[in-house]
Amino acid sequence: MISGTAIVERLEALRASGADRDALLAEAVRLIEAGRAEYDWVGVYLLEGDVLVLGDYIGEETEHTRIAVGDGVCGTAVAEDRNLNIPDVRAIENHIACSIGTRSEIVVLMRRGDGTVVGQLDLDSDTPAAFGEADEAELEIVASWLGRLF
Ligand code: SME
Repeated sequence: MISGTAIVERLEALRASGADRDALLAEAVRLIEAGRAEYDWVGVYLLEGDVLVLGDYIGEETEHTRIAVGDGVCGTAVAEDRNLNIPDVRAIENHIACSIGTRSEIVVLMRRGDGTVVGQLDLDSDTPAAFGEADEAELEIVASWLGRLF
C-alpha cells in the first residue's frame, strides 16, 4: 500500500528545494504509480473552466486529453463533487475507456483550501476492484496537499 504521508514528505522536500507546481505534480504521479503494482495508469487532470485537461501521467498513451465535466468517470466525479471508486468499469455506461485492459478506476478530487475543485488524480487498474478504502484514504492525503498548491 502506498503511504500518502510519505509521498507528501517527499513532495515537501522537493518544494523546499525550489520545485515548481508542475514538477511537484509530475513527481506525485511518479511516486503514486510506483506504490502498487495494481496501479496500471496514473494521471492528473486539471480543471480549466468546465473541461478536465490531462497533465502528467504514467501508463498507456491516451487520446482522452480533454474530458468535459459530466463525461466519463472523471467528469462525473467533478459534476457530483465527490471521489468515485468504480470496482468494475465494464458495469457502468459512462466509462471512457483509455485502455481495453482497464477493469477498475478511482478518481480522487484535488481541492483548494476553500474546497474548490482544481483537478483530480485518476488511477486505472487492469485488476477488478483494485481500489479499496485504504487506497482512497492515502490518495486523498496526496490530492489534498496538491490541491493547496493552486
Ligand atoms: N476512464 C476515464 C477517462 C480517463 S482514462 O481512464 C485515462 C473516464 O471514464 O472518465
